[in-house]
Amino acid sequence: MQIRKATKKDVEVIFNIANLAFKNNPLSFLKIAEQLSTDSVEFFLFESEGFVSLKNTADFSDVLDIAVIPEFQNKGIGSKLLQFIGNKNLILEVRKSNLNAIELYKKAGFKIISTRKNYYSNPIEDALIMERKKNITILAFESSADETSVAVVKNGNEVLANVVATQINSHQRFGGIVPEVASRHHLEWINTVLDEALKKANITDPAKQIDAVAATFGPGLVGSLLVGLMAGKTFAQIYDLPFIGVNHLSGHISAANFNMPIEYPALSLMVSGGHTELVLMEKENDFQIIGETLDDAAGEAFDKIGRVMGLKYPAGKEIQELAKLGENNIDFPIAHTEGEMDFSFSGLKSAVINYLYKAEQQKTEINKNDVLASFQSAVVNALIQKTKIAVSEYDVKQIILAGGVAANQLLRTEIEKLATEYNLNFNLVPLNYTGDNAAMIGAAAYLEYKSGNFSDLSLDTKPNLDFHLI
Ligand code: KG4
Ligand code: ZN
Repeated sequence: MQIRKATKKDVEVIFNIANLAFKNNPLSFLKIAEQLSTDSVEFFLFESEGFVSLKNTADFSDVLDIAVIPEFQNKGIGSKLLQFIGNKNLILEVRKSNLNAIELYKKAGFKIISTRKNYYSNPIEDALIMERKKNITILAFESSADETSVAVVKNGNEVLANVVATQINSHQRFGGIVPEVASRHHLEWINTVLDEALKKANITDPAKQIDAVAATFGPGLVGSLLVGLMAGKTFAQIYDLPFIGVNHLSGHISAANFNMPIEYPALSLMVSGGHTELVLMEKENDFQIIGETLDDAAGEAFDKIGRVMGLKYPAGKEIQELAKLGENNIDFPIAHTEGEMDFSFSGLKSAVINYLYKAEQQKTEINKNDVLASFQSAVVNALIQKTKIAVSEYDVKQIILAGGVAANQLLRTEIEKLATEYNLNFNLVPLNYTGDNAAMIGAAAYLEYKSGNFSDLSLDTKPNLDFHLI
């Protein structure tokens, strides 16, 4: 091993390196000896050629000195030492003019966070304060409906693995999810999916490489939720890791961080198979429902109309494709709701069914693709109309589009237009993360982790969980 932790016996070696490396301001022998006998200070030695010293506190470590004797400089020793320190919150000061050192720190993952005026003497100069944050790696489980998924997510926005096993085929012949069948599938798949995710993310020592375990605890089907939740809690217990229960809906929204950082205050249009909500987020981990569906969810409307038209479950994607072949030439209604930001899709569903029924009665030929294009437009128009009211009433910086229906191309285009019209940022969940997946649960869990919101291992499923209950 080229790098090792120094002991009191190394005082002379360190003194020599410091003397040669810091010609202008060498460290005194006494100072080094004193630091070496302080519990909170650590030195790491690279042979007898370089060292780094750290002062550790509970939350972060201050890099006190990093030194390499001149003839061994530019050989990557400094980088190796900084890498060896490992995954910690680190902070350091550097002379503003020391461009080589600044470059070395940047390469090692440090970022400039502030300047301290006249911090150094001999000569007087400003210090740049640089920081390298500890990476937080979360193992996440999702099993609320018909997807068994396990993911490994770094810092809430970098997906190291996201394995999704879908059971859609098993439910198709019933035209919807059969709860009993779903939970059985989750049980069958969870271990395989977990193994694959750990393998993909190169996790060989979970206790060391993972910082927390997260699982969806609601909303969803109780038998399905139980599988992922139990798996997550068990994993946390085995490896003695903190556990975080995650709301599936905040998971959907947090997946926007895979596109770009969520900027607050933000408004999220959350459209999935079970939920349709306008969620105002004034700050991180703060969710207020300002509008919601009074009956069917948007995805549910797509699936129900799909069923009536003889399409497979779930029908959203196929409707989108068929709609491209048709024209929006039938005037389906947009429901008027008492709460101006609420939604209702049951009237639209009846209107489509009536239209089909009438045509059948009158034996008039209809163009199915036109019906689907017109239906899709009606859903999207309703969603956009209410979102517009929300952005004119609330001062937000960003519009987020999340949930399974956020995959809809027409909806994506219209949200983009709306955002441009109101001069807002639009943050669309990337297409591969709109449907149910565990990466989004990892993204949401990271925000909880940062706020110190951990769950007890006695946490139970909450099938009806909503933002109202947070
Ligand atoms: O979020 P999600 O995967 O599951 C729930 O949490 O509900 O959403 C699934 C819903 C289904 O209703 C499906 O038909 C709909 O999202 N969906 C779409 C599209 N892709 C999926 N709806 C419209 N257009 C799409 N391209
Ligand atoms: Zn979902």
